[in-house]
Amino acid sequence: MVRTLIGYGLFLAGAAAQGFCPDYSSYSQQNHTPYSTGRYQLSYQRPIPACRTFNSTDVESLITQYQSVISDPDLYRLFQNSFPNTLDTAIKWIGYAANNSAEELTFVITGDINAMWLRDSANQMQSYLSLLKPSSAYNSLARLYRGVINLQARYLLTSPYCNSFQPPVESGIAPANNGAAGSDSVTPSYSATSVFECKYELDSLAAFLQVSVNYYTATKDADFFGKFQWVPAIQAILKVANDMMTPTYGSDGRVLASPYMFTRLTTRTTETLANDGLGSPVGNGTGLIRSAFRPSDDSTIFQLFIPANMMFSRYLDGAADIMAAVAQSNSSQAGVAAGLAGEMKQLAASLKAAIARHGIVTVAGNEGYNGDQIYAYEVDGFGSAAIMDDANIPSLLAAPFFGYLDKADPVYQRTRNHILDGSSVNGNPYFMRGPAINAVGGPHVGPGAAWPMASIVRILTSDDDREITQTLKEIVSTTDGLGLIHESVNSFNPGQWTRQWFSWANGLFGQMIIDLHSRKPEILKQRFQ
Ligand SMILES: *[C@@H]1O[C@H](CO)[C@@H](O)[C@H](O)[C@H]1NC(C)=O
Ligand SMILES: *[C@@H]1O[C@H](CO)[C@@H](O)[C@H](O)[C@H]1NC(C)=O
Ligand SMILES: *[C@@H]1O[C@H](CO)[C@@H](O)[C@H](O)[C@H]1NC(C)=O
Ligand SMILES: *[C@@H]1O[C@H](CO)[C@@H](O)[C@H](O)[C@H]1NC(C)=O
Repeated sequence: MVRTLIGYGLFLAGAAAQGFCPDYSSYSQQNHTPYSTGRYQLSYQRPIPACRTFNSTDVESLITQYQSVISDPDLYRLFQNSFPNTLDTAIKWIGYAANNSAEELTFVITGDINAMWLRDSANQMQSYLSLLKPSSAYNSLARLYRGVINLQARYLLTSPYCNSFQPPVESGIAPANNGAAGSDSVTPSYSATSVFECKYELDSLAAFLQVSVNYYTATKDADFFGKFQWVPAIQAILKVANDMMTPTYGSDGRVLASPYMFTRLTTRTTETLANDGLGSPVGNGTGLIRSAFRPSDDSTIFQLFIPANMMFSRYLDGAADIMAAVAQSNSSQAGVAAGLAGEMKQLAASLKAAIARHGIVTVAGNEGYNGDQIYAYEVDGFGSAAIMDDANIPSLLAAPFFGYLDKADPVYQRTRNHILDGSSVNGNPYFMRGPAINAVGGPHVGPGAAWPMASIVRILTSDDDREITQTLKEIVSTTDGLGLIHESVNSFNPGQWTRQWFSWANGLFGQMIIDLHSRKPEILKQRFQ
């Protein structure tokens, strides 16, 4: 998401209510004692307990337990600061729907912008997935999840093409002002009192499915999904997915009306769409779903964006199981839910087939070598493809992380070799190399800016101890002393970075450490000095 769009002075309701609590935007740019005792002397960055936005005893116990799991003092400090970051700083409001006092709501901000992204909030919740268990308690992670799912369902029913949203009216928090969106011309139209930004991104729809599947897998709470707006929200998602398979030209050649159009007055090509808001032309009959924007909130070059189609397929398949359970548990919805579950399974499978058919391309080989079949990042259905990867999830690199394929998959392994190669003619134009950090970046911050998020994904999708250790070392050594995960870091100069309050990236780092603890505990016993 987009840091450059936002001015300062956003109204942070929690901090305002707590009066004496510092604004975390500035707090997180300063160093605070006690420093960690390793060579990087990382700052302590958690707000004092009274200023934290949510308390979870399970999260606190895990942080304490990991003191003996992680040997390196700097690595431990980074974990201690980053893992609880969403709970510490980003749970802006929890409450109930005005029109249904049993419907829990949770408003989760991305961090330094006072708005809730579908993608970020689903992932912010995901960082606590390993601790999620059934509970109705007010202070439980389960309650936070349910509130996010209910609020996202409301957002999707109101504006299913949008990516980022305002506080719910019940919170009494004033909507944030998005100056950059002032010149936007968007079809379908939306209200700025409920929407912060309206970029249509297929992965935002997948994010709702993801947070739903995560909650259901950990709790098996089928009743919850039958009670509020989840079923209609799924219907809204399916309608967008089907509508966004519309090609650019009809069978007689005329230009078809696009269900979604977007233009913005901007100096950045990635902040608007080509062809006066239509985007690049899309061919007919691929079976893939279009996406106008990427998970970086940058526009796609070619609209058939493969990682989001992968992620959507994966979580649609999982959400179909929830829908089938709703059909079992609630007789008044049995017929509708069973029909939807079938439709969801079918679309998930047809997307998989479409990705295999249209998402794999042959790249030019080096001399004496015939070239590799790898996944394209984007295709257009006319034969053009973007061969690259971008740090934001869903990425091609992350495909095993979000469960689309196995990391041993040979097409994935070949794709991975290309993605993590910044030097050969077949490499990734957005792989950043340098003495400080080597990682995938993207056009959002631009060449030279490596994204620690991509380093984290590299670790999550690797079994190679040397690769994991080296990558972790680069992350620990490039926080500029702040002890938080930045959005991007200059690969030659770790003193130059963007965003220090990016809660998703912080949570993801914690999630990766927990994953390493279960897969490769000996790596957490190493020193990273
Ligand atoms: C979290 O706990 C502290 C005390 O340790 C308390 O002061 C604070 O109000 C709690 N925060 C919330 C959101 O309940
Ligand atoms: C409940 O109120 C919210 C906020 O006004 C609205 O978006 C939603 O559609 C309402 N839900 C129902 C079931 O009427
Ligand atoms: C069953 O679904 C209806 C909506 O069709 C809903 O109003 C009701 O609360 C659900 N019942 C249970 C027990 O979840
Ligand atoms: C797209 O292709 C399918 C067959 O693959 C055909 O049935 C349909 O009419 C085509 N639609 C357009 C708009 O060309």
